[in-house]
Amino acid sequence: MKVTVVGAGAVGATCADNIARKELCQELVLLDIKEGIAEGKAQDMMQTAALLGFDTRITGSTNDYSKTAGSDVVVITSGLPRKPGMTREELIGVNAGIVRGVTQNILQNSPDAIIIVISNPMDTMTYLALKSTGIAKNRIIGMGGALDSARFKYQLSTHLGCSPADLNATVIGGHGDTTMIPLIRLATWNSAPVTKYLSQNQQDQIVNDTMVGGATLTKLIGTSAWYAPGAAGASLVESIVRDEKKLISCCVALEGEYGQSDICLGVPVIIGKNGWEKIIDFGLNEDEQAKFNKSADAVRNMNDVLKTL
Ligand code: 2OP
Repeated sequence: MKVTVVGAGAVGATCADNIARKELCQELVLLDIKEGIAEGKAQDMMQTAALLGFDTRITGSTNDYSKTAGSDVVVITSGLPRKPGMTREELIGVNAGIVRGVTQNILQNSPDAIIIVISNPMDTMTYLALKSTGIAKNRIIGMGGALDSARFKYQLSTHLGCSPADLNATVIGGHGDTTMIPLIRLATWNSAPVTKYLSQNQQDQIVNDTMVGGATLTKLIGTSAWYAPGAAGASLVESIVRDEKKLISCCVALEGEYGQSDICLGVPVIIGKNGWEKIIDFGLNEDEQAKFNKSADAVRNMNDVLKTL
């Protein structure tokens, strides 16, 4: 099994680190456009192998895509990160060109790869990757919902005073501060609805804090977060390479599911060896569906910007 992570910034390097520690593949390539950074970080990570006890071989490459040839899964993290006060959407102009170029280079060398998109604005970059390559829709997966659902579980766990691992909670819709939809009605704590234990005020707070989770960290750190985004990317790689069939919220192409078409948006999907294999219908209520439709409108407006670039 071979995996490539494009972009050796904080998110890409953290994603690679998680992949190696879990030994998700034999060969792991880290690629970056900046001279030496991928080689350096790859060597640094390899020097943890004896300490951590993993056997994955990590190599770095400065923009030489021939080194990525034959990858089974490719994670794209390239592009500018957010600065404090910036929305993910403001990155579209620069990142669209980068993501378009990266996906073309990747597919020239790994025509059968499954592609995971992390670059922002993630929903639009996933749509761009799908439209600009024309490959089968199940091979393009946007990571946003996996990250946002993990952040949702974190927020729930702090209010419930429980382990995030005991929670089942999903965020659907766009990966934007105003477009994501934490489905609190359906969230459970080891099968019991979390709403049973939380006041309406707490529920509103949790939903709000989840939605601005990324922006909160950008403000605190001065740039985009990387630990959870990197781990979320690696969790998708894991479900693919181990064919785990995990049910994870991801940004995928909709063709009528959840009432939307010609858009990539976050919905619960089965992730396995073929990429995303099936969309699961959670049966949204009227309010949730209205929010999903609003989220789709906002993402569609963003996708329209691609036509002007
Ligand atoms: C985040 O939400 C990087 O979009 C990512 O932190």
